[in-house]
Amino acid sequence: MSKLSLPKDKIKVVLLEGIHDNAVHALNVAGYTNVDCYPGALDGVALRDAISDAHIVGIRSRTRLTEQVIAQAPKLMAVGCFCIGTNQVDLKAAKMAGIPVFNAPYSNTRSVAEMVLGEMIMLYRGIPEKSAAAHAGKWLKSAKGAHEVRGKKLGIIGYGHIGSQLSILAEALGLEVQYFDIVNKLALGNAKACHTMEQLLRSSDIVTLHVPATAQTKGMFGATEIGQMKKGALLINASRGNVVDIDALAAALKSGDIGGAAVDVFPTEPASNDDEFVSPLRGIPNVILTPHVGGSTQEAQANIGTEVADKLITYSDNGSTLGTVNFMEVALPVQGTATRFMHIHRNVPGVISRINDIFSGKGINISGQYLRTDGEVGYVVVDVEADIEPGQGFRKALDAIDGTIRSRFLF
Ligand code: NAI
Repeated sequence: MSKLSLPKDKIKVVLLEGIHDNAVHALNVAGYTNVDCYPGALDGVALRDAISDAHIVGIRSRTRLTEQVIAQAPKLMAVGCFCIGTNQVDLKAAKMAGIPVFNAPYSNTRSVAEMVLGEMIMLYRGIPEKSAAAHAGKWLKSAKGAHEVRGKKLGIIGYGHIGSQLSILAEALGLEVQYFDIVNKLALGNAKACHTMEQLLRSSDIVTLHVPATAQTKGMFGATEIGQMKKGALLINASRGNVVDIDALAAALKSGDIGGAAVDVFPTEPASNDDEFVSPLRGIPNVILTPHVGGSTQEAQANIGTEVADKLITYSDNGSTLGTVNFMEVALPVQGTATRFMHIHRNVPGVISRINDIFSGKGINISGQYLRTDGEVGYVVVDVEADIEPGQGFRKALDAIDGTIRSRFLF
């Protein structure tokens, strides 16, 4: 540890909203033992008091970190959103205060892939109807229309984290996998890439969507695309609610053009479990409707705890901002014997030369320098090979540079 950096047990971490124990464990193992945990979300004065002297804050989706809240936490240097979304944080205000925000976009990949796999098996056996009938006291014992998934052709649209994970699992069950992605993706296992989405649609028995929310994917799956699917094929959407035209899907299910569907995400979703779920898909046989739970498992929560804590630890220890959602991404080598400074500043001309002057003025050699800027903020990390003692005035000199947002010595 550098003689200049704040000891890790003095770095105060505040975790709100019952964040998984994995996060606390990872922080403790890394030496961050000053961790305060709160079971629920806080707001107003309670939130201000809880984080007023925190260096690192972890939240889930219900705590709102507005510009005002961020301004009331002057020591705050990093925020971890232990979830996927980051809308609850004013990301611009955080960036302008020199605070990178991290999240866990891929911790629930496996959970979604497993649910989709289960759904395709259930749909191919007509289980939604048979189960509903049994609950109502009816016995639909029949093999009619029931199929194995083995040997069926699965078409995956969007071959990213979830799509490619599903590809592997589906092949293990004996499905033939093909996929379409706008980016050239390496085919895993025996999967085959389709050159067009239409090619995939016309030849797949099951179509499953795993695309992100972009301008291009909004409404990308409407009556035309549904019309290109094989008669009786299945459609699964656990990606985003506005990707599929739900009215067109409902019509195709009612006409029998589509043999079944599983939908986890909807154009409008109830704000809470107390609100009614309204959808044209309600009541249609062989349709599995789930309340946006594709990624909602205990395992995903545990993964999120570890993933976000690791990102916070890496940033605090080493300065790397990989995986941040609001900041310049810098991947830094392990520090070795160097003393490492980081400096976050408004992106105005001359800051770097002034930083360099501080070291060259004292005859200190810079062994590594890593700089990323955007239009508004610059982030520079400087490694120097010198035995710097406290009290030599480096932090003071760095902080005095015009445009400085914050500076720090790293471990
Ligand atoms: P990812 O970013 O790893 O992969 C998305 C893939 O889609 C990329 O390969 C990208 O190139 C491709 N793509 C983008 N636009 C496309 C287009 N127009 N046509 C074809 N391919 C296109 O994302 P990941 O993690 O696999 O997630 C996929 C979706 O699943 C996201 O929308 C995410 O929000 C959603 N999701 C849903 C959950 C749930 O609870 N239902 C949980 C987790 C993620």
